[in-house]
Amino acid sequence: MRLPGLIDPHVHMREPGATYKEDWASGTAAAVAGGFTQILAMPNTEPPVVDGASLAHTVSLAEAKAHCDFAQFLGATAENVHQTADCADQSAGLKLYLDQTYGPLRLESLDLWKAHFLAWPKDRPLVAHAEGRSMAAAILMAALTDRPLHLAHVATREEILLVRAAKEKGLKVTCEVTPHHLFLTSADLPGGRGEVRPRLGSDEDVRALWENLAVIDCFATDHAPHTAAEKDCPDPPPGFPGLETALPLFLTAVSEGRLTLEDVVLRMSDNVRKIFKIPTQPDTWIEVDLDAKREITAEGLYSKAGWTPFEGWQTRGCVQQVVLRGETVFQHGKVLAQPGFGNRIR
Ligand code: NCD
Ligand code: ZN
Ligand code: ZN
Repeated sequence: MRLPGLIDPHVHMREPGATYKEDWASGTAAAVAGGFTQILAMPNTEPPVVDGASLAHTVSLAEAKAHCDFAQFLGATAENVHQTADCADQSAGLKLYLDQTYGPLRLESLDLWKAHFLAWPKDRPLVAHAEGRSMAAAILMAALTDRPLHLAHVATREEILLVRAAKEKGLKVTCEVTPHHLFLTSADLPGGRGEVRPRLGSDEDVRALWENLAVIDCFATDHAPHTAAEKDCPDPPPGFPGLETALPLFLTAVSEGRLTLEDVVLRMSDNVRKIFKIPTQPDTWIEVDLDAKREITAEGLYSKAGWTPFEGWQTRGCVQQVVLRGETVFQHGKVLAQPGFGNRIR
């Protein structure tokens, strides 16, 4: 079965700064192996991507190493309100961290949120990590400044109902949900391996996400690789790898009748392209085997994380082949594209 190349609007590549967790080559190899032909990278690297110089530096690293097409987000800070718009055309969008998570980027004051909401061009993607009450405040800010806002990794019942209510009011909000928030609860992964932001929810949260599938615009992996050793330490960093397991999990849900293939393609390609204004790729598609039965295991994954929260899960459906701009870049379980084959999207 042929599907369009998938687009992941939320991945962490860790380069520059933490290439032992992931780099542009390993992360985009994982993307291709997972059926993704375009990815958008988050700015919470070390140093973070917050201005023209850091954006140009990160993009140059990516251009040398990427196996798939990519764009890089800018991160909002207390200092860069008046510089971000100049980089809007070269970036995936502007990312606002409104709650504590991994990395140094966090915007504390409402004044600062508002300044960024106003300064960033209305026709360029604005994305917020905003949980619970912060999400309510971010939606209000989008309404007050009359601009579109995309909400990252919606995870709870109250959040998805909030997004639904905002959409019913006609507000220009869109949202994404991760595979881990759709398939796991906090009971499934106790301890450091289960640390992720937003935290894994309850059965009730997971049920509410599935019941409100119509409210979910995109599935995004939030591929946030940290090594197994780091996850097993006393103070584990939050985040799960996810690029290589997302499509098999969603195809399994299709085989169980919980989703349709159209549901998947809409949320992993069409809607992402529309919301993030991503150009189409000529001669690009993936070939999936809907019947293939596999067991998820960390062994053989391209990500440097070296573990997966879905270890031992039985899946139905896998990626057989990925064709990017006419070239077969993945086949028989192997990434074939050379590093640097990936192009910048912006
Ligand atoms: C992400 C990371 O590790 O960069 N961690 C996470 O738990 N999701 C940061 C983020 O997406 O908030
Ligand atoms: Zn986040
Ligand atoms: Zn993230």
